[in-house]
Amino acid sequence: MKEVRVGIIGTGAISWAHIDGYKKLKDKGVTVVACCDPDENKAREYAKENEIPNVFTDYNEMLKMDGLDAVSVTTWNSVHNPATLAALRAGKHVLCEKPLALSVEQAEEMKAEADKAGLVLNVGFVMRFEKKVQIYRDFEKAGLLGNIHLAKVKYTRRNGAPIGWFTSKDMAGGGPVFDLGVHVVDISRYLMGNKKPVSVSAAAFKGQGAKQNIKLLERYRASAPFDIYDVEDLAVAFIRFEDGGVISLETSYTQHIEKDEISISFYGDKGGIDYYPQPVVHTDMLDYLADIKPIVEIGEDDGFPAEIAHFIDCVRGEAASIAPAQDGVDIMRILGAVYESAAAGKEVALQG
Ligand SMILES: NC(=O)c1ccc[n+]([C@@H]2O[C@H](COP(=O)([O-])OP(=O)(O)OC[C@H]3O[C@@H](n4cnc5c(N)ncnc54)[C@H](O)[C@@H]3O)[C@@H](O)[C@H]2O)c1
Repeated sequence: MKEVRVGIIGTGAISWAHIDGYKKLKDKGVTVVACCDPDENKAREYAKENEIPNVFTDYNEMLKMDGLDAVSVTTWNSVHNPATLAALRAGKHVLCEKPLALSVEQAEEMKAEADKAGLVLNVGFVMRFEKKVQIYRDFEKAGLLGNIHLAKVKYTRRNGAPIGWFTSKDMAGGGPVFDLGVHVVDISRYLMGNKKPVSVSAAAFKGQGAKQNIKLLERYRASAPFDIYDVEDLAVAFIRFEDGGVISLETSYTQHIEKDEISISFYGDKGGIDYYPQPVVHTDMLDYLADIKPIVEIGEDDGFPAEIAHFIDCVRGEAASIAPAQDGVDIMRILGAVYESAAAGKEVALQG
C-alpha cells in the first residue's frame, strides 16, 4: 500500500478532528509529517502533542517539502481559497473544510485548478460520512419514503456566535448561513439526490451581535478575536429545486429560543423521516399510522474518521469522491443566493 504523507494547514479547533482521523490510519501507511499556522506557538504545541516533525508558519514553505502528498486545509474560511490553490499548484491533494470558499467564483477557481492538475479536492461535508446516512438510504431504497417533496432543516443557537473570526464577513464570508446552515443544506440536498437548485427566497436579520456580556455562560472562542460582527444573527430560506422539491432552512447564532437545536426532517409521499440525531420513519402500514425506529448503536455518530479515511482512499485512487469540489461549488451557489435574496427582498433565480 502506497504511503501517504499529509500536512495540516491551520492548527485550530477542527484540525484536531482531522489529525485524529489521520492517526487512526497509521497502520495503513498514513503519516502527518508537517503542520503550519501563522501562530507559531500554536503550531509548535500542536506538532509536539501529535508528534509532527516539521512545523511551518507559512504554507508556501511547507508545500515545498519533498514527499508531501496531501493536505487538510483547516484555516478560517478566507484562507481556504489561497491555501487550496497553492497546494494544488504544488501537486498536493486537498481536503478543504466547509464552506469551500467565500464565493462561488473562488470555489469554481479551486475546482478548475484541481481538475487541471488531476488532483483530489474534497470538501469537509462531514455529515455525509455519518453512519445514519446508511439508515436513510436503506429506508429510501426499500421505498418507504417515496418521493421526497420537502426537507425542513434547522440549525439554530440561542447564544452561539463563536467569538473570533466567524463573525467577520471578510474572514468567514457569512454568519450562521455559512457556518451552520451549510451542513444542514448540504446533507438534506445530498440525501435528496443532489437536486438542481432553481431559486432561493430568503430573509436575514442582524442587530444582536456577539452578546459577549452574557453572564455565567462559557462560549466557544475561535482564534483571531476581532471585535467585528458584521454577519447575520438569523436567516430563513426557501430553496426550490428543478423537480419541485424544496428545502426550508432556519439558522441562527443568536435567536430568542429556548435552546439550541439541530433538526433535519424529510417528507415524502410514502413516508417522512426525522433524521437527526437518529432516524425515525413516520409512515402508514397495514392501515395504521406507524413509526419505525431502527435500534442501532451509532453513538455520537462522528463522521470525521470516515471523512478522512475516504479522502485517503481518493488520494490512492481507490474511491470516487463522495464529497467532491463540484458539490462545494453548488452549495456556495445556494448559500450565495440566500444572501442575495435577503438583500434584494425577493426570490432570486439560480443559473447554470
Ligand atoms: N466540519 C465541521 O463540523 C467544522 C466544525 C468547525 C469548524 N469547521 C471549519 O473549519 C475551519 C476552521 O475552523 P476552526 O473552528 O478550527 O477555527 P480556529 O479559529 O480554531 O482555527 C483556524 C486556524 O487557522 C489558522 N490560520 C489562519 N490563517 C492561516 C494561514 N494563512 N495558514 C495556516 N493557518 C492559518 C489560524 O491561526 C487558526 O489557528 C473553518 O473553515 C470552519 O468553517 C468545520
